[in-house]
Amino acid sequence: MVLLDQRRLPGEEVELRCESAAEVAEAIRTLAIRGAPSIGVAAAYGYALAAERGEDLDTAYRALAESRPTAVNLVWALEQMRDDPSPERAHALHEEEVERCRRMAAHAALLFGPVTRALTHCNAGGLATGGYGSAVGALRKAWEDGLIEHVWVDETRPLLQGSRLTAWELEALGIPHAVIADSAAAHLMGRGEVDCVVTGADRIAANGDAANKIGTYGLAVAAAYHGIPLYVVAPTSTIDPATATGVEIPIEQRDGAELTTRFAAHNPAFDVTPAELIAAIVTEEGVHRAPYAESLPRVVRA
Ligand code: MRU
Repeated sequence: MVLLDQRRLPGEEVELRCESAAEVAEAIRTLAIRGAPSIGVAAAYGYALAAERGEDLDTAYRALAESRPTAVNLVWALEQMRDDPSPERAHALHEEEVERCRRMAAHAALLFGPVTRALTHCNAGGLATGGYGSAVGALRKAWEDGLIEHVWVDETRPLLQGSRLTAWELEALGIPHAVIADSAAAHLMGRGEVDCVVTGADRIAANGDAANKIGTYGLAVAAAYHGIPLYVVAPTSTIDPATATGVEIPIEQRDGAELTTRFAAHNPAFDVTPAELIAAIVTEEGVHRAPYAESLPRVVRA
Protein backbone atom coordinates (compact mmCIF):
# COMPACT_ATOMS: atom_id res chain seq x y z
CA MET A 1 0.00 0.00 0.00
CA VAL A 2 1.44 3.36 -1.02
CA LEU A 3 0.56 6.61 0.76
CA LEU A 4 1.46 10.24 0.22
CA ASP A 5 3.36 10.96 3.45
CA GLN A 6 1.52 13.99 4.85
CA ARG A 7 4.22 14.59 7.48
CA ARG A 8 6.55 15.76 4.73
CA LEU A 9 4.14 18.24 3.11
CA PRO A 10 4.31 20.91 1.86
CA GLY A 11 8.10 20.72 1.47
CA GLU A 12 8.30 17.32 -0.18
CA GLU A 13 5.90 14.96 -1.94
CA VAL A 14 7.18 11.59 -0.73
CA GLU A 15 5.52 8.18 -0.97
CA LEU A 16 5.42 5.84 2.01
CA ARG A 17 5.17 2.08 1.34
CA CYS A 18 3.34 -0.08 3.88
CA GLU A 19 3.86 -3.85 3.65
CA SER A 20 1.54 -5.02 6.46
CA ALA A 21 -1.49 -3.99 8.51
CA ALA A 22 0.90 -3.11 11.36
CA GLU A 23 2.76 -0.70 9.10
CA VAL A 24 -0.50 0.90 7.98
CA ALA A 25 -1.52 1.25 11.64
CA GLU A 26 1.83 2.92 12.35
CA ALA A 27 1.32 5.30 9.39
CA ILE A 28 -2.08 6.27 10.84
CA ARG A 29 -0.74 6.63 14.41
CA THR A 30 2.14 8.86 13.30
CA LEU A 31 -0.08 10.99 11.01
CA ALA A 32 1.60 10.01 7.76
CA ILE A 33 -2.06 9.75 6.80
CA ARG A 34 -4.65 11.64 8.84
CA GLY A 35 -8.12 13.14 8.72
CA ALA A 36 -11.13 11.05 9.73
CA PRO A 37 -12.35 9.71 6.36
CA SER A 38 -8.77 9.18 5.13
CA ILE A 39 -7.79 7.04 8.08
CA GLY A 40 -10.95 4.98 7.53
CA VAL A 41 -9.98 4.48 3.89
CA ALA A 42 -6.38 3.65 4.88
CA ALA A 43 -7.62 1.13 7.46
CA ALA A 44 -9.80 -0.50 4.79
CA TYR A 45 -6.82 -0.89 2.43
CA GLY A 46 -4.67 -2.05 5.36
CA TYR A 47 -7.21 -4.75 6.22
CA ALA A 48 -7.34 -5.86 2.56
CA LEU A 49 -3.53 -5.94 2.56
CA ALA A 50 -3.58 -8.17 5.65
CA ALA A 51 -6.07 -10.54 3.97
CA GLU A 52 -3.96 -10.73 0.79
CA ARG A 53 -0.86 -11.50 2.83
CA GLY A 54 -2.57 -14.17 4.93
CA GLU A 55 -2.17 -12.20 8.18
CA ASP A 56 -4.37 -13.02 11.16
CA LEU A 57 -7.35 -10.78 10.48
CA ASP A 58 -8.38 -10.31 14.11
CA THR A 59 -4.90 -9.04 14.95
CA ALA A 60 -4.92 -6.77 11.89
CA TYR A 61 -8.37 -5.44 12.83
CA ARG A 62 -7.26 -4.63 16.37
CA ALA A 63 -4.01 -2.96 15.29
CA LEU A 64 -5.83 -0.75 12.80
CA ALA A 65 -8.84 0.00 15.03
CA GLU A 66 -6.61 1.03 17.94
CA SER A 67 -4.26 3.23 15.91
CA ARG A 68 -6.26 6.37 16.77
CA PRO A 69 -9.26 6.65 19.12
CA THR A 70 -11.35 9.69 18.19
CA ALA A 71 -12.40 9.35 14.54
CA VAL A 72 -15.25 6.86 14.32
CA ASN A 73 -14.59 6.41 10.58
CA LEU A 74 -11.76 4.02 11.42
CA VAL A 75 -13.94 1.32 13.00
CA TRP A 76 -16.77 2.13 10.60
CA ALA A 77 -14.53 1.36 7.62
CA LEU A 78 -13.18 -1.83 9.19
CA GLU A 79 -16.73 -3.03 9.82
CA GLN A 80 -17.55 -2.38 6.16
CA MET A 81 -14.63 -4.67 5.23
CA ARG A 82 -15.43 -7.62 7.51
CA ASP A 83 -17.51 -9.61 5.02
CA ASP A 84 -15.35 -8.86 1.98
CA PRO A 85 -11.73 -7.98 2.90
CA SER A 86 -10.70 -7.54 -0.74
CA PRO A 87 -8.75 -4.68 -2.36
CA GLU A 88 -11.79 -4.14 -4.60
CA ARG A 89 -14.02 -3.53 -1.57
CA ALA A 90 -11.46 -1.12 -0.09
CA HIS A 91 -11.28 0.72 -3.40
CA ALA A 92 -15.08 0.93 -3.62
CA LEU A 93 -15.22 2.30 -0.06
CA HIS A 94 -12.60 4.88 -1.01
CA GLU A 95 -14.59 5.97 -4.06
CA GLU A 96 -17.79 6.13 -2.02
CA GLU A 97 -16.12 8.47 0.52
CA VAL A 98 -14.99 10.84 -2.25
CA GLU A 99 -18.46 10.76 -3.78
CA ARG A 100 -19.95 11.62 -0.37
CA CYS A 101 -17.61 14.64 -0.29
CA ARG A 102 -18.88 15.89 -3.64
CA ARG A 103 -22.48 15.56 -2.49
CA MET A 104 -21.75 17.29 0.83
CA ALA A 105 -20.01 20.13 -0.95
CA ALA A 106 -23.00 20.75 -3.19
CA HIS A 107 -25.30 21.01 -0.15
CA ALA A 108 -22.85 23.12 1.86
CA ALA A 109 -22.23 25.62 -0.94
CA LEU A 110 -25.88 26.67 -0.65
CA LEU A 111 -25.09 28.08 2.81
CA PHE A 112 -22.59 30.62 1.49
CA GLY A 113 -23.59 34.14 0.59
CA PRO A 114 -21.78 36.11 -2.12
CA VAL A 115 -18.29 37.47 -1.33
CA THR A 116 -17.85 35.14 1.64
CA ARG A 117 -14.77 35.37 3.84
CA ALA A 118 -14.65 31.91 5.42
CA LEU A 119 -12.40 30.63 8.17
CA THR A 120 -11.34 26.99 8.44
CA HIS A 121 -9.38 24.98 11.01
CA CYS A 122 -7.07 21.99 10.62
CA ASN A 123 -7.23 20.20 7.26
CA ALA A 124 -10.54 18.82 6.05
CA GLY A 125 -9.46 18.74 2.42
CA GLY A 126 -8.75 16.02 -0.11
CA LEU A 127 -5.79 14.86 1.97
CA ALA A 128 -8.12 14.22 4.90
CA THR A 129 -10.85 12.38 2.97
CA GLY A 130 -9.15 10.38 0.23
CA GLY A 131 -10.01 13.12 -2.28
CA TYR A 132 -12.03 16.34 -2.76
CA GLY A 133 -12.49 17.17 0.94
CA SER A 134 -15.33 17.87 3.37
CA ALA A 135 -14.96 21.45 4.70
CA VAL A 136 -12.41 22.31 2.00
CA GLY A 137 -14.63 20.54 -0.54
CA ALA A 138 -17.43 22.91 0.49
CA LEU A 139 -15.10 25.89 0.05
CA ARG A 140 -13.98 24.52 -3.30
CA LYS A 141 -17.54 24.19 -4.60
CA ALA A 142 -18.49 27.62 -3.22
CA TRP A 143 -15.39 29.09 -4.93
CA GLU A 144 -16.40 27.48 -8.22
CA ASP A 145 -19.86 29.00 -7.73
CA GLY A 146 -18.27 32.45 -7.35
CA LEU A 147 -19.19 32.81 -3.67
CA ILE A 148 -15.80 32.87 -1.93
CA GLU A 149 -13.75 36.02 -1.64
CA HIS A 150 -11.12 34.69 0.70
CA VAL A 151 -10.31 31.88 3.16
CA TRP A 152 -8.63 32.38 6.54
CA VAL A 153 -6.59 29.29 7.35
CA ASP A 154 -5.92 28.62 11.03
CA GLU A 155 -2.35 27.35 11.24
CA THR A 156 -3.64 24.65 13.69
CA ARG A 157 -1.11 24.11 16.39
CA PRO A 158 0.74 22.01 17.29
CA LEU A 159 1.13 19.99 14.08
CA LEU A 160 0.17 22.74 11.63
CA GLN A 161 -2.35 20.86 9.49
CA GLY A 162 -3.71 24.26 8.42
CA SER A 163 -0.52 26.04 7.42
CA ARG A 164 1.09 22.90 5.94
CA LEU A 165 -1.83 21.06 4.33
CA THR A 166 -4.91 23.26 3.89
CA ALA A 167 -2.86 26.16 2.54
CA TRP A 168 -1.13 23.73 0.16
CA GLU A 169 -4.49 22.49 -1.11
CA LEU A 170 -6.03 25.96 -1.44
CA GLU A 171 -2.96 27.16 -3.31
CA ALA A 172 -3.28 24.25 -5.76
CA LEU A 173 -6.99 25.06 -6.23
CA GLY A 174 -6.24 28.75 -6.80
CA ILE A 175 -8.48 29.85 -3.90
CA PRO A 176 -7.34 33.13 -2.27
CA HIS A 177 -6.28 32.44 1.31
CA ALA A 178 -4.07 33.59 4.16
CA VAL A 179 -2.68 31.57 7.05
CA ILE A 180 -3.36 33.06 10.48
CA ALA A 181 -2.17 32.15 13.97
CA ASP A 182 -4.97 30.26 15.71
CA SER A 183 -5.05 33.03 18.29
CA ALA A 184 -5.84 35.63 15.59
CA ALA A 185 -9.25 34.17 14.76
CA ALA A 186 -11.29 35.99 17.44
CA HIS A 187 -9.53 39.26 16.56
CA LEU A 188 -10.58 38.93 12.90
CA MET A 189 -14.13 38.03 13.90
CA GLY A 190 -14.29 41.11 16.13
CA ARG A 191 -13.23 43.28 13.20
CA GLY A 192 -15.99 41.89 11.00
CA GLU A 193 -13.61 40.05 8.70
CA VAL A 194 -15.09 36.55 9.01
CA ASP A 195 -18.51 35.60 7.58
CA CYS A 196 -18.56 31.93 8.55
CA VAL A 197 -16.45 29.16 10.04
CA VAL A 198 -16.34 25.81 8.22
CA THR A 199 -14.75 22.70 9.70
CA GLY A 200 -14.80 18.94 9.41
CA ALA A 201 -15.38 16.50 12.27
CA ASP A 202 -13.89 13.28 13.60
CA ARG A 203 -16.98 12.01 15.36
CA ILE A 204 -20.50 13.43 15.64
CA ALA A 205 -22.54 12.16 18.59
CA ALA A 206 -26.25 11.38 18.23
CA ASN A 207 -27.16 14.78 19.73
CA GLY A 208 -24.93 16.70 17.26
CA ASP A 209 -21.97 17.37 19.57
CA ALA A 210 -18.95 17.20 17.25
CA ALA A 211 -15.33 16.28 17.98
CA ASN A 212 -12.75 17.95 15.77
CA LYS A 213 -9.16 19.18 15.95
CA ILE A 214 -8.24 20.91 19.19
CA GLY A 215 -9.16 24.58 18.91
CA THR A 216 -12.47 24.06 17.12
CA TYR A 217 -14.44 24.52 20.36
CA GLY A 218 -12.71 27.84 21.06
CA LEU A 219 -13.50 28.97 17.52
CA ALA A 220 -17.15 27.99 18.01
CA VAL A 221 -17.38 30.00 21.23
CA ALA A 222 -15.81 33.05 19.56
CA ALA A 223 -18.03 32.65 16.48
CA ALA A 224 -21.19 32.42 18.63
CA TYR A 225 -20.20 35.58 20.53
CA HIS A 226 -19.86 37.44 17.23
CA GLY A 227 -23.02 35.98 15.68
CA ILE A 228 -21.04 34.13 13.01
CA PRO A 229 -22.33 30.71 11.88
CA LEU A 230 -20.11 27.65 12.32
CA TYR A 231 -20.84 24.86 9.87
CA VAL A 232 -19.60 21.28 10.31
CA VAL A 233 -19.24 19.42 7.03
CA ALA A 234 -18.78 15.66 7.44
CA PRO A 235 -19.93 12.41 5.82
CA THR A 236 -22.41 10.08 7.49
CA SER A 237 -19.45 7.77 8.19
CA THR A 238 -18.47 10.33 10.86
CA ILE A 239 -21.83 10.13 12.69
CA ASP A 240 -21.80 7.77 15.67
CA PRO A 241 -25.36 7.04 16.82
CA ALA A 242 -23.96 4.77 19.56
CA THR A 243 -22.40 7.80 21.24
CA ALA A 244 -25.23 9.78 22.81
CA THR A 245 -23.35 13.02 23.56
CA GLY A 246 -19.91 14.53 23.13
CA VAL A 247 -18.92 13.71 26.72
CA GLU A 248 -18.58 10.07 25.68
CA ILE A 249 -16.32 10.73 22.69
CA PRO A 250 -12.79 9.44 23.44
CA ILE A 251 -10.28 12.26 23.08
CA GLU A 252 -6.84 11.32 21.80
CA GLN A 253 -4.00 12.45 24.06
CA ARG A 254 -0.81 12.81 22.05
CA ASP A 255 2.80 12.96 23.15
CA GLY A 256 3.67 16.19 24.93
CA ALA A 257 6.87 16.28 22.87
CA GLU A 258 4.72 17.58 19.98
CA LEU A 259 4.46 20.78 22.08
CA THR A 260 7.73 20.96 24.00
CA THR A 261 10.56 18.63 24.97
CA ARG A 262 11.82 21.09 27.58
CA PHE A 263 8.81 21.20 29.92
CA ALA A 264 5.92 19.02 31.01
CA ALA A 265 3.12 19.26 28.43
CA HIS A 266 -0.52 18.26 28.04
CA ASN A 267 -1.58 17.62 24.45
CA PRO A 268 -5.24 16.72 23.76
CA ALA A 269 -5.57 16.36 19.98
CA PHE A 270 -9.32 17.02 19.76
CA ASP A 271 -12.09 18.89 21.51
CA VAL A 272 -15.87 18.68 21.38
CA THR A 273 -18.03 21.51 20.12
CA PRO A 274 -21.48 21.39 21.74
CA ALA A 275 -24.32 21.04 19.25
CA GLU A 276 -25.85 24.35 20.34
CA LEU A 277 -22.82 26.20 18.89
CA ILE A 278 -23.17 24.53 15.47
CA ALA A 279 -25.37 26.43 13.00
CA ALA A 280 -25.68 23.42 10.67
CA ILE A 281 -24.19 19.98 10.10
CA VAL A 282 -23.86 19.13 6.42
CA THR A 283 -23.65 15.51 5.28
CA GLU A 284 -24.06 13.96 1.85
CA GLU A 285 -27.76 13.69 2.74
CA GLY A 286 -28.24 17.44 3.08
CA VAL A 287 -28.13 20.35 5.54
CA HIS A 288 -29.19 19.35 9.07
CA ARG A 289 -30.24 21.88 11.70
CA ALA A 290 -30.89 21.58 15.44
CA PRO A 291 -32.33 19.58 17.09
CA TYR A 292 -29.76 17.19 15.61
CA ALA A 293 -31.09 14.15 17.47
CA GLU A 294 -34.04 14.44 15.08
CA SER A 295 -32.45 15.91 11.96
CA LEU A 296 -29.25 13.86 11.55
CA PRO A 297 -29.59 11.00 9.09
CA ARG A 298 -30.16 7.56 10.59
CA VAL A 299 -26.89 5.65 10.29
CA VAL A 300 -27.02 1.91 10.72
CA ARG A 301 -23.86 0.48 12.29
CA ALA A 302 -22.76 -3.13 11.99
O1 MRU B 1 -5.20 14.90 13.81
P1 MRU B 1 -5.81 14.99 12.44
O2 MRU B 1 -4.98 15.79 11.49
O3 MRU B 1 -6.17 13.63 11.91
O4 MRU B 1 -7.16 15.77 12.69
C1 MRU B 1 -8.03 15.92 11.59
C2 MRU B 1 -9.19 16.80 11.86
O5 MRU B 1 -9.41 17.25 12.96
C3 MRU B 1 -10.12 17.04 10.72
O6 MRU B 1 -10.75 18.28 10.83
C4 MRU B 1 -11.20 15.94 10.70
O7 MRU B 1 -10.62 14.67 10.73
C5 MRU B 1 -12.09 16.05 9.54
S1 MRU B 1 -11.28 15.60 8.06
C6 MRU B 1 -12.41 15.65 6.81
